[in-house]
Amino acid sequence: MKIEELFRVSGYGVVVTGGASGLGLGYAEALAENGAAVTLLDADAARLAEETRRLCSLGLSVRGEVVDVRDHAALDRAFDAALAAHGRLDVVFANAGIDSGPGFVESWAGSERPRNAEGSLERYTDERWNRVIDINLNGIFATLRAGARIMRPQRSGRMIVTTSVAAYQCEPAIGSAYMAAKAGTAHLMHAVALELAAFNITVNAIAPGFFVTNIGGGHAKQASVQTAMGKAIPMHRVGFPDDIKGLALFLASPASAYLTGQQISIDGGWTLGVAD
Ligand SMILES: NC(=O)c1ccc[n+]([C@@H]2O[C@H](COP(=O)([O-])OP(=O)(O)OC[C@H]3O[C@@H](n4cnc5c(N)ncnc54)[C@H](O)[C@@H]3O)[C@@H](O)[C@H]2O)c1
Repeated sequence: MKIEELFRVSGYGVVVTGGASGLGLGYAEALAENGAAVTLLDADAARLAEETRRLCSLGLSVRGEVVDVRDHAALDRAFDAALAAHGRLDVVFANAGIDSGPGFVESWAGSERPRNAEGSLERYTDERWNRVIDINLNGIFATLRAGARIMRPQRSGRMIVTTSVAAYQCEPAIGSAYMAAKAGTAHLMHAVALELAAFNITVNAIAPGFFVTNIGGGHAKQASVQTAMGKAIPMHRVGFPDDIKGLALFLASPASAYLTGQQISIDGGWTLGVAD
């Protein structure tokens, strides 16, 4: 098969949750720039309108719908609307997620990582825990279910979940609900991949390391944070949404047809260990 056929997504119908910003927007751009018709689902109405307008003005086939992934019935309706609009559903990116607030240490990197009492286990409120689990774990479950309702009968499809390196490596600067949600999401991906393999539906995960997006109020945009992280990451730099587009295209395209149930880390070597 020729390279252009291996990575051909032209004409595909695609849904991306959390598609108005950061990594989700990167996935959407990667697919739309290669000829797919993409629906962005996002809870942030203003950003969704702005990004949908921007992408359409570039001549890309993109539509947006305001949906909170905690509203599972609305999510199902939005998938039906995307199917009606695009005429098919080939790829789902279950991506929407939030930061979980302070962890039990203050800084992301460096030898000085003082403890942060505010992020301690004893002060972790039920409200904070439930919000993170509701969006980062339950929202992914509802998104995969919405995709399966359409993909199983058609016996084809690609589902790609955004987990995190936090699914298998604890990051003390992020609250513990995030670790639990991401680890749960990674194993949910395994279970769904096993169930749907016989229906020609692949289910995989992208586990990003440290990327500059709007998560957590956009803290990763600070130069001081990027410099500190650049020292901890073996490739000596943080990631940007453009860095994730190739992997997204690979997992969405015929090139990955026989790959399922896998979590692929993309982190500049961060989880390998400390180099120089
Ligand atoms: N940025 C990183 O370093 C990093 C690392 C590992 C994993 N991730 C994961 O990547 C995913 C995308 O995050 P990002 O970094 O691009 O953040 P981001 O804040 O830039 O984008 C997330 C998008 O999701 C939307 N969203 C949030 N809650 C929602 C909800 N309840 N319903 C619908 N949409 C909602 C937001 O409005 C936003 O547009 C998340 O699952 C996050 O956990 C990010």
